[in-house]
Amino acid sequence: MPTHAADAQAGEPSAANARALVAEGYDAVYADGADSPALQDIWLRLACGTDFPAEFSHISFLTLAEAQRIAHDSGLAEDDRLVDLACGTGGPGLLIARETGAALTGIDISEVGVARAEARSQRVGLGGSAEFRVGSFEETGLPDLFADAALTVDALQYSTDKRSALHEIARVLRPGSRLLFTAFEVEPAHVQGYPVLGLDPVPDYTPLLSEVGFTVDAYEETAGWRERLTAAYQAVLDEPDSLTDELGEKGYMSLSLEVAVTLGLDPYRRRVLGVATRR
Ligand SMILES: C[S@@+](CC[C@H](N)C(=O)[O-])C[C@H]1O[C@@H](n2cnc3c(N)ncnc32)[C@H](O)[C@@H]1O
Repeated sequence: MPTHAADAQAGEPSAANARALVAEGYDAVYADGADSPALQDIWLRLACGTDFPAEFSHISFLTLAEAQRIAHDSGLAEDDRLVDLACGTGGPGLLIARETGAALTGIDISEVGVARAEARSQRVGLGGSAEFRVGSFEETGLPDLFADAALTVDALQYSTDKRSALHEIARVLRPGSRLLFTAFEVEPAHVQGYPVLGLDPVPDYTPLLSEVGFTVDAYEETAGWRERLTAAYQAVLDEPDSLTDELGEKGYMSLSLEVAVTLGLDPYRRRVLGVATRR
């Protein structure tokens, strides 16, 4: 769930400014969102499905079937290393780490998200094999050839430089290992002049993936994404009282502005699931 709406109305269209605004927005939502029964209820019912395990909850659109497909296609084995870029509060990465037995490194620009992910890893019994750090797509701070698979869920569209981000992911992956992702393709004509999504709108990730050293194995539109996004976002706008109580003024403001702008702007062409192998 994006949370950088305020910047869509004002702000310098620079990459650093955009990243700071995104981090601030997500910090505000993550501060109380993970413990908000109203938000969790909306998300399970409308965004990801009630079969998604609550202990690995998230605020993206990942379904359990998608997570299982990703775990299967990752090729990860016990004690391999998975990197989750833009991990948020860690749910999807930890779920896939548990399914595969892999160790996990999660990276996000939100300090609050990283702290929440760390706490969640302890709660689900994966504290010994998972670590979380503040960093960005464009600068992960990880060494070359660090990982046996990379994951990123519903976040690549926020990267202010997709070529650098995908190049960075290719750099940290060992040859023959895979990148698994869900992401929104951005419609350039709909986001022109907007500071985050408008900085580097990519309507199709496959040419960039090939350019930076991946072979694309699968690249598919995900089922029902538009209906799920619309229903969940509309519910956020329809429940201001309970959500403000649980998220606080700043958290709800951040969330509801983004949701309203996304519904109005219609920035996304498609939500896709991709699997690509590092050559
Ligand atoms: C919709 S949330 C998804 C979080 C997580 N993947 C999940 O499924 O719960 C998007 C995440 O992208 C992160 N993010 C946005 N831009 C980023 C960047 N340039 N580098 C790293 N993380 C970023 C945000 O802080 C946020 O946690």
